[in-house]
Amino acid sequence: MTIEQMIQQALSEGGHVPRRDVEDLLAHLLGMSWSELLVGKDKEVSEAALSDWNHSWSRLKQGEPLAYITGSKEFYGIDFYVNPSVLIPRPETELIIEEFLDRNDLSNPKILDLGCGSGCIGLTVAKKDPPSEVYLIDVSPAAILVAEKNKLRLGIENATLIEGEVGSPQFSISSLKGQVDFVLANPPYIENGDKRVSQSVDQYEPHLALYTDNKGMNWIHKWLTWSYDYMKPEAIGIFEFGEGQAKDVCAAVKKENYRLLEVIKDYSDIERLVVFQR
Ligand SMILES: C[S@@+](CC[C@H](N)C(=O)[O-])C[C@H]1O[C@@H](n2cnc3c(N)ncnc32)[C@H](O)[C@@H]1O
Repeated sequence: MTIEQMIQQALSEGGHVPRRDVEDLLAHLLGMSWSELLVGKDKEVSEAALSDWNHSWSRLKQGEPLAYITGSKEFYGIDFYVNPSVLIPRPETELIIEEFLDRNDLSNPKILDLGCGSGCIGLTVAKKDPPSEVYLIDVSPAAILVAEKNKLRLGIENATLIEGEVGSPQFSISSLKGQVDFVLANPPYIENGDKRVSQSVDQYEPHLALYTDNKGMNWIHKWLTWSYDYMKPEAIGIFEFGEGQAKDVCAAVKKENYRLLEVIKDYSDIERLVVFQR
């Protein structure tokens, strides 16, 4: 069977799966880039590749996210390893990187990435110039393993991974108190039971990364409170939040005695980031 015939067969079987996902999965299994796949559509697929395809294709057809099947997701132009213990990095989270790069004028900033998951935020900024000192924290030991793997794969040395529950009075890093220039975070901010979450996200992505209580504000409140003691005077915080939460997030920022600098919209014109100063 040729590559083109396999694509056509898959599309007729699993009409709900986007064509690009079918092509990306096939390219991954054949060890090709997407553009190489398109150029080589008349090539015959080997028996061995066909049997790999059958297993992976049945996972994709059932709704499992492509990134968990291929084990990778691109974020800000960097390929991150992912597995089901971490959230799949989202394009809107790249805005945190943009905002940090726009605002940083220090030569060696100390940065906290709270709830690091795969490490996509902290490791991306750690790779940028000027050099920084980045501390990535997550409560999930399995997520820390994924971030550690990404740190190794990317050859990053200026990042430290720490397992701990941000926001808990029992968790502190005394050596960083009053030392931090930037706090970056994409906290779990979806209210428990929110019906807007797609079935695939709810079924496959870690609930610890997605959901919380108090209208989705629980960790945003606690992480704002916790961060204060770590930030230098005039240090900057950049937090992502969910659709419809801007008013509550701005009120929380002010309540914790930060200066509210800006609310930033994402590419879909939805308020998505808050930028504040200690
Ligand atoms: C929305 S995900 C963000 C992951 C990654 N930063 C990203 O943007 O793709 C939130 C992360 O926070 C972690 N988390 C949840 N509660 C936490 C807590 N109290 N302290 C530290 N990490 C926590 C979850 O394990 C998850 O990895």
